[in-house]
Amino acid sequence: MAKKIISQVDVKGKRVFIRCDFNVPLDANQKITDDNRITASLPTIKHVLDHGGRAILASHLGRPKGQASPEMSLKPVAERLSELLGQTVALAPDCVGAEVQSMVDGLSDGQAILLENVRFHKAETDNDPDFCQQLASLADMYCLDAFGTAHRAHASTEGVARLLPTAVAGFLIEKELKFLGDTLEAPSRPFAAILGGAKVSSKIDVITNLAQKVDMLFIGGGMTYTFYKAMGYNVGTSLLEEETVPKAKELVEMLKGMDQLEFFLPTDATICENFDGSTEIKSVTSDQIPDGWMGLDIGPETLKLFKEKLATAKTIVWNGPV
Ligand code: 3PG
Repeated sequence: MAKKIISQVDVKGKRVFIRCDFNVPLDANQKITDDNRITASLPTIKHVLDHGGRAILASHLGRPKGQASPEMSLKPVAERLSELLGQTVALAPDCVGAEVQSMVDGLSDGQAILLENVRFHKAETDNDPDFCQQLASLADMYCLDAFGTAHRAHASTEGVARLLPTAVAGFLIEKELKFLGDTLEAPSRPFAAILGGAKVSSKIDVITNLAQKVDMLFIGGGMTYTFYKAMGYNVGTSLLEEETVPKAKELVEMLKGMDQLEFFLPTDATICENFDGSTEIKSVTSDQIPDGWMGLDIGPETLKLFKEKLATAKTIVWNGPV
């Protein structure tokens, strides 16, 4: 699907609402431990500023569930952005409201402002029409550059885009779509996919789709235990999406029945009684997770197997943490 890119529109004098993914990891002192997501957003932001636009930057951080909380403030991001851009990027006290509006009105061409965490409002994840309208009233055009969040139909990722007269993609989205598109169209083989993360429900389509294209498919991470349950294994207190167990069963059967596909589920699990690791940690074969214990992720035997197999791959796509 062709996408209009930020470089194809005139941003001069325009207030451009740029949805970034600044969901960066922070340590206990609110220090950013990895600023990759911020640096990845710079080409789009710089393009807007260098071409005389006004950048209104928006992002979520964490999952504050509609409550403002200082630990999930974007303050550290505003500071890092100011350093990287060589100009002050003020942090608005909120993402909507009169004060924010007046700060945005005070921007000059070539200046940027960062709105406070959009998820401090439940209306963000609800994609609430009034909230979308309030966000849209801050800008003249919309730019989506939050690749890591582009799959969420939230107010700042989806709703606002429909309200502003111009909506385009940023350079990060363009780059990722190009890599992904080229990879899926003409991969060097063997082609492998690693799928992790907690929720099978949000990955069913991805797994089904990738299974038709790849030579090897590896499943790990939190969703492993929903698959184990589907296979009749005891999963103790592991992460489990009970309602997705029947679908996971169908998926396993489908994947095992695909002749051209090597499908790997972890053969062992690293387990513990507490997620914080304060008690004994050990590994067991997949079907031996005792009651009261939780699978944390793949075990050493699986790690060795995945490593050996992945070493033979010429292309790897990876989605979700393992
Ligand atoms: C991520 O870190 O995966 C993205 O920022 C999306 O975050 P979310 O899963 O909380 O929507």
